[in-house]
Amino acid sequence: MTHRYDQLWLNANLFTIDCNSAATVMPDACLAVTGDRITLICPMRQLSAAPEQLAASVHDARGGWVTPGLIDCHTHVVYAGDRSMEYRQRLQGKSYAAIAEQGGGIQATVRATRQASEEQLLRASIPRVRAMLAQGVTTLEIKSGYGLDLAAERKILRVARQLAEVLPVRVVTTFLGAHVTPPAYRTTPEAYVDLLCQEMLPQLAEERLVDAVDVFCDDIAFSIAQTERIFQTAKALSLPIKCHAEQLSHQGAASLAARYHALSCDHLEYARQADVTAMAQQHCVAVLLPGAYYFLQAGQKPPLALLRQYRVPMALATDCNPGTSPTTSLLLMTHLAQHLWGMSTDEVLLGVTRHAASALGMADSIGSLQEGHIADFVIWQIEHLAQLSYYFGYIPPHQTIKGGVPQQEASHEQSQ
Ligand code: NIG
Ligand code: FE
Repeated sequence: MTHRYDQLWLNANLFTIDCNSAATVMPDACLAVTGDRITLICPMRQLSAAPEQLAASVHDARGGWVTPGLIDCHTHVVYAGDRSMEYRQRLQGKSYAAIAEQGGGIQATVRATRQASEEQLLRASIPRVRAMLAQGVTTLEIKSGYGLDLAAERKILRVARQLAEVLPVRVVTTFLGAHVTPPAYRTTPEAYVDLLCQEMLPQLAEERLVDAVDVFCDDIAFSIAQTERIFQTAKALSLPIKCHAEQLSHQGAASLAARYHALSCDHLEYARQADVTAMAQQHCVAVLLPGAYYFLQAGQKPPLALLRQYRVPMALATDCNPGTSPTTSLLLMTHLAQHLWGMSTDEVLLGVTRHAASALGMADSIGSLQEGHIADFVIWQIEHLAQLSYYFGYIPPHQTIKGGVPQQEASHEQSQ
């Protein structure tokens, strides 16, 4: 007998969105999958026939809550080396900028990453990505930016692509050759921007290693004029843009990026009203990074009230990196955003699903439970959705389904 659906999950509560893209729930519902797509979402009482007649394989969600697969839309997870000693220095009062000036910070990770072989870099990154997947992540953005020359940036991006082959995760790559100016160009930063625009980016794009382009615009990184040159190069190559904007100081990078139709502006602690309105006009997502805010003891919060007022979609991500956010836990980020910034349960959940998908330009296929979307979802054994961002350091039992394929069940506690 042929079935209409390949798989059918019964007895689920769904976290979904309404016609205005606002968060809503569908209690006591079911969800069917055909191939790698969601093909039915409806209340249990609307099922048109006995489950076994409808689907080849029937699963019981046991009253669990289903969210889309989580999306970590801003990470620097591919790196080598260790910076735990810098953390100690910072706790003793030394600033992030002072450590960077003395050759530590991003430059320290660049040295270690350049020295590592592709194989070593892959081996160092796998446990971190596994830890992300163990809490329901199905899509991951990975930035380069610890290479800062063609060969080392290529190595990072190749490892990012390989991670999607060896682990059950969808990876989106972002070229961040404009992370900081490498030491060899310290006195001639324009020459590095030339190299980046004329050689590195076009070559890596040609090799299909680049899905988007990011620039860190700040006093310790690239100026507004340099950032604009790199955006122009990205546009000429038809690559989408992202920007590390207004993290440590106000530069006007968010407004600039919005003018260039950036998918997202990230960090935004120092963003002002004009930046927020520019982002709103261009439908640019605000990717907020509570891990970096917490770890740097930043003090300055992103302008949540303005972002809400102008309806800028807010995503959350780990920013997983060795200097400012050594974490792999997206669920912990939902907790921090709620606890430190007063974001609501709906806001943080949309932030790691729907709006994270928009920050990657993928909201048409992932990030919300909708018929026709890719069947990436997580069944959480919790009583209320609020529990997901309530715990910190505890991951409730859950099962991840990626592209319609159930992954190994994580049925007991794991540490974040
Ligand atoms: O997103 N802001 C710039 N880049 C990273 C920090 C990288 C590092 O310190 O290694 C960030 O916070
Ligand atoms: Fe970052």
